[in-house]
Amino acid sequence: MRTDENSIKSDEIPASGFLDRMQFFYELFPYPNRPMFMRPDPEGSLDAHAGFSKMLAEKGSALTPCQIEDLRLRDVRFEFPRNKKIALVGCGTDEPLLFRMLHPQNPILAVDLSLKSLKRARRKIYWHRLRPVTLIQGDATLALREHAPFSHIQCFGVLHHQPDPKSMISAMAQSLERNGTLRLMIYSRTGRRLERGIQRKFTGLWNPAAKDSQSAEGSAFTPASGWKLFLASAKLLCWRLALPLISPKAGAMRFRYIGLSRARLADAFLHPSDHPLDLKDVLNWSKSAGLELVAHDSKSYELGPLNSHSDTSNSLETLVSEEDRGNISSNIVLVFKKVGAESWITR
Ligand SMILES: C[S@@+](CC[C@H](N)C(=O)[O-])C[C@H]1O[C@@H](n2cnc3c(N)ncnc32)[C@H](O)[C@@H]1O
Repeated sequence: MRTDENSIKSDEIPASGFLDRMQFFYELFPYPNRPMFMRPDPEGSLDAHAGFSKMLAEKGSALTPCQIEDLRLRDVRFEFPRNKKIALVGCGTDEPLLFRMLHPQNPILAVDLSLKSLKRARRKIYWHRLRPVTLIQGDATLALREHAPFSHIQCFGVLHHQPDPKSMISAMAQSLERNGTLRLMIYSRTGRRLERGIQRKFTGLWNPAAKDSQSAEGSAFTPASGWKLFLASAKLLCWRLALPLISPKAGAMRFRYIGLSRARLADAFLHPSDHPLDLKDVLNWSKSAGLELVAHDSKSYELGPLNSHSDTSNSLETLVSEEDRGNISSNIVLVFKKVGAESWITR
């Protein structure tokens, strides 16, 4: 696999079955596909900076909520040398731009299955006149292996879509240098029940013969699925527009995060492979891959923010039990540090 900065090279390794289906989906609905001119605010995205994860990994619980509050971009930039390599796993259309703004000099490798998403990401970086990012189309687990080691990996909203999430965790762990960091976001298993319930109603679009999402996943989809999915997304958009009238309180509030974005609607309701991940499994897989959890961030309906570096409700046990009780109302962000020995490089 050859790569040039900002020129997209196709991965020669064929993505089969499961990943084909997901690639097909994200070619139709590149995500999150925000408008080209929208420029992310780096100060407002401080926690995405690799230096922020590095501080969490190095200082751990010694970092007080006040110190975190006082952090500025220049502080976290100082923590993360400009020659350190960053990987974006399943970068979508917008992460490369954000990371280039946060890290103007660092080598950044952005991998995605969807060529359309990468083209969009490249155009955004040109539009904002920023330094190129290396873009690779293909399965991230393979691309990581080829380009390791990395000092920081970001994997947001990707793990719960994988055919084998455990092996993706292990590929990311093995691609990190010692003390490197992984910032991972997964959907809450219980918090997404409603979206997954609605997704089941659209399973037939992927394969009319399939009676449930499990059998649909294993089978081939037809090109006609494309326009049917597109039509379904248009209907969903109408539904979303009408929601404040149909259900002003519960419905409109519950799906407010989607906004009026077709990409977000499709991602929430038409996704071909949105798997509930058990948080305990994710933690166990990470541990056995040589990753140590250094921070977590989420929100509970009853307890409010569950943040490892806040003053209240900060223990991991609380997060796990709130997830088990179906009380998590947000995505779950986990930051890990590589402590184990196994790597592509040392083998
Ligand atoms: C929900 S989007 C998240 C995009 C981005 N991380 C963000 O948070 O804005 C998931 C992205 O991961 C990509 N993806 C899923 N599985 C992948 C894999 N195995 N290798 C590379 N990209 C993958 C999809 O093509 C899609 O663009």
